[in-house]
Amino acid sequence: MGGLLCNKVCIITGAAQGIGKGIAEQFAADGAIVYACDLREGSMDEWSKECSAKTSTRVVPMYFDVCDATAVKNAFMAIFKAEGRIDVLVNNAGVVFNRRIGMIRRDETELMFRVNVIAVIEMVQLVSRLMARNGGGSIVNIASVTAQIGSPGQSAYSATKGAVISFTKSAAKELASQGIRVNAVAPGIVKTERFAELYESEGKKIDDRISRIALGRLGTPQDIANACTFLASDRSSYISGEILGVNGCASI
Ligand SMILES: NC(=O)c1ccc[n+]([C@@H]2O[C@H](COP(=O)([O-])OP(=O)(O)OC[C@H]3O[C@@H](n4cnc5c(N)ncnc54)[C@H](O)[C@@H]3O)[C@@H](O)[C@H]2O)c1
Repeated sequence: MGGLLCNKVCIITGAAQGIGKGIAEQFAADGAIVYACDLREGSMDEWSKECSAKTSTRVVPMYFDVCDATAVKNAFMAIFKAEGRIDVLVNNAGVVFNRRIGMIRRDETELMFRVNVIAVIEMVQLVSRLMARNGGGSIVNIASVTAQIGSPGQSAYSATKGAVISFTKSAAKELASQGIRVNAVAPGIVKTERFAELYESEGKKIDDRISRIALGRLGTPQDIANACTFLASDRSSYISGEILGVNGCASI
């Protein structure tokens, strides 16, 4: 079987829905052995079977909280033991609470920093040790356009994604000598389940937002998956420490 990611062992977090699911499906279509990880027990059982059958590769569901360091370690070690290597990690799992500054709540902000930042740092720490044993790998962190150009009502969330961007650049410098590339994809507004929940009732506001996207439409999980596939693959072997905006040329 061919494909850009043929036989690469890839871990994708937050793969039960939205962007993560799109990335997992594209990686499988490109021949990767996909470990699809999410918090919600059982949520990927049926889909992973269908996806494996459709693509003739393996899509394996794993359930753990990315903030639980012991569970993450057990999962990554089990994958390494089963496959003998880990080639790609996509840090996609994330949480968002949209609040104007006056309404920001500490519990929500702490959860965003735990999931979006601390868990990412700890997973890169762990996976880089394992990738180094086989001469390297590729890590793709999912950031956000909000961290690059700002977005009212998303200051706390965008601070977490700004941290992801800074971490990506320094980690890339530090891990290059071990053959590990670290890049980030910064999506614009992507039409996912979460998007529907957050915005669809707002009608006009969405039209406003689309009018500020030069390419004239919202992003899709497929748009983000295409960028991740490139950064995960050897086609991007001389690219590290970059933040790839996938936002339709947006000015929020
Ligand atoms: N949708 C957008 O418009 C958009 C834009 C920019 C960036 N992003 C980023 O893209 C990523 C995916 O976004 P989405 O819209 O698909 O989100 P989503 O909420 O639809 O999906 C996120 C997935 O992550 C999982 N998850 C959440 N916390 C977890 C945890 N602690 N451990 C394991 N899994 C956990 C959820 O169960 C869910 O399946 C996030 O990092 C998000 O911040 C999204």
